Amino acid sequence: MLFSPYTIRDVTFKNRIVMSPMCMYACDREDGTVHNWHLIHYASRAVGQVGLIIVEATAVTPQGRISARDLGIWNDDHIDGLRTLTSLVREQGAKIGIQLAHAGRKAMVAGEIIAPSPLPFDETMRTPKEMTKADIEETIHAFQQGARRAKEAGFDVIEIHAAHGYLINEFLSPLTNKRTDEYGENRYRFLSEVIEAVKEVWSGPLFVRISASDYHPDGLTVNDYVEYAKRMKAQGVDLIDVSSGAVVPAKIDVYPGYQVPFAETIRREANVATGAVGLITSGRQAEEILRNGRADLIFIGRELLRNPYWPKTAANELGIQLEAPKPYVRGW
Ligand SMILES: Cc1cc2nc3c(=O)[nH]c(=O)nc-3n(C[C@H](O)[C@H](O)[C@H](O)COP(=O)(O)O)c2cc1C
Repeated sequence: MLFSPYTIRDVTFKNRIVMSPMCMYACDREDGTVHNWHLIHYASRAVGQVGLIIVEATAVTPQGRISARDLGIWNDDHIDGLRTLTSLVREQGAKIGIQLAHAGRKAMVAGEIIAPSPLPFDETMRTPKEMTKADIEETIHAFQQGARRAKEAGFDVIEIHAAHGYLINEFLSPLTNKRTDEYGENRYRFLSEVIEAVKEVWSGPLFVRISASDYHPDGLTVNDYVEYAKRMKAQGVDLIDVSSGAVVPAKIDVYPGYQVPFAETIRREANVATGAVGLITSGRQAEEILRNGRADLIFIGRELLRNPYWPKTAANELGIQLEAPKPYVRGW
């Protein structure tokens, strides 16, 4: 199944291998624009036969960057570089998505940082300003404008980053959202409004990445996310990319496939397509997840940093003849 095509809306990925979004912190000019590094890095994985490449967390506002070296999509000036990137990747037969992000209280850039409630992540981080209604409206609008620019730049997929303790995740979790207004009474409201705003300008495949467990006794569990996933599906989200943690400092026991049970539970209980991610490193492991109906797509992170040709490695392991890029036929 790993090498079978998968279609969402009118977009077909040639296989189930997804490059997981990974920040490169490579914008040397600190202006959010695409640099040569991004072109080389993502195009290499397209040549390596990844089906869908999801570009790293890309900030919808300058203050929503994790670092000053993040990619950005807050300005129309960002579109040209991103268009070069999408055409390079698509030329090599891969589809390309972008992760729209706002770091919230985890932003490490100069100036004011914002979050649903004025609580720092830990003692080393700054205390964010509690967002006003105007801040909320502006930020939702920024996600919408990011989606509009992503469309103009030629992306096939948009993924909303609602995981890892960044802004949207901070609204979802009771550990980070202590508001008493409608965004606190209904912690899903902010994400819901971001999805609606994005949908006004984007009709292509829409993914949302979540943290399915806060790993904290008073935090969210996968069961809470089953309910959120049902709501996302009802709003037209096509796939939930299931990660976990990083909302508050916590000790996480990691081992191969440790997040797969979350993807499986959400897929089964919310009846929605899921992506599995986290310490998936072999073709057999990926095949097991797909064949047992635990997820629909396999997201690969660090293994693809080590080996841009990982799809070829996985195909060899599974005894599959993977078509070579023409110039590489003699070495394939
Ligand atoms: C260098 C690096 C940067 C990352 N940046 C992001 C990011 O931008 N957005 C995101 O959702 N996850 C990010 N992650 C998490 C990965 O997408 C992935 O979920 C995680 O590494 C677990 O998968 P793996 O074991 O296959 O690496 C990053 C991970 C790494 C190693």
